[in-house]
Amino acid sequence: MSKGCRVVAIEQPIVKLLNIRKDFGEKEVLRKIDLQIHQGDFIAIVGKSGCGKSTLLRILAGLEAPTSGRLLVNGEEWRGRNRLAKIMFQDGRLLPWKNVYDNVAIGLKEESQKQQIEQILQQVGLGDRLHSWPSELSGGQKQRVALARALIHEPKLLLLDEPLGALDALTRIEMHELIEKLWKEKQLTAILVTHDVEEAVALANRVVIIEEGRIALEVPVRLPYPRHRDHPLFMKLVNQILNKILGNKRMTVESNSNLPAVESQ
Ligand SMILES: Nc1ncnc2c1ncn2[C@@H]1O[C@H](COP(=O)(O)OP(=O)(O)O)[C@@H](O)[C@H]1O
Ligand SMILES: [Mg+2]
Repeated sequence: MSKGCRVVAIEQPIVKLLNIRKDFGEKEVLRKIDLQIHQGDFIAIVGKSGCGKSTLLRILAGLEAPTSGRLLVNGEEWRGRNRLAKIMFQDGRLLPWKNVYDNVAIGLKEESQKQQIEQILQQVGLGDRLHSWPSELSGGQKQRVALARALIHEPKLLLLDEPLGALDALTRIEMHELIEKLWKEKQLTAILVTHDVEEAVALANRVVIIEEGRIALEVPVRLPYPRHRDHPLFMKLVNQILNKILGNKRMTVESNSNLPAVESQ
């Protein structure tokens, strides 16, 4: 299509949460959540344990209904399972009696999908482990299978609930690189719940801090990818977010847009 024919539309959020509240019995978990998610966003959600991060992710997946408030998907009111979304959990949830290939094939018409399954397993670095059993895999490899299983459905929204929480530090860094690569290649929109603030700043273009059931702060991260952990702005953002979560200091986060950008390598 020639440039002259292109219609430039104002980008609408693919998912919009409006005034979302969630109670469990007497317990008020989420109080007033307003969040807009645009195509290509990588949002990290951080906050103290029990603050409602997983609950928010389940609401986005349509696995949990909010007590009140509205969830809009592509501008339309949404109830029930969000078919645009796939969720990946910390424990991977592989079926031990199925091999790697068959775990990814769950819910698919196998014959028509064989090539895609092999391709996605290749992309997550498991092209030579199709016939392995989950018990033969390391923790990192199991999470690669879980990631492949989520991505085979080509979700518009990839929801990650502490997917790397049980992995050692080096494996986590390898997984960050993999997730970043796939996010770019597949133009995914991703929401990552994590308790690791460095992980949040390494991957996200926006870090959302939840406190007392509300979004206490949204921090844009305007560092280019791949992110360098020893960059002064990286460390500054990590410290600001940690201070906010831990309540050490009250501070406003300045925009980091006018700070010098690091060259991608
Ligand atoms: N199905 C449920 N029934 C009752 N309470 C729940 C349920 N799910 C979560 N909660 C409670 O809601 C709060 C937030 O949980 P969760 O979203 O899992 O927190 P986080 O992921 O931030 O650690 C916790 O106090 C938890 O016990
Ligand atoms: Mg949780």
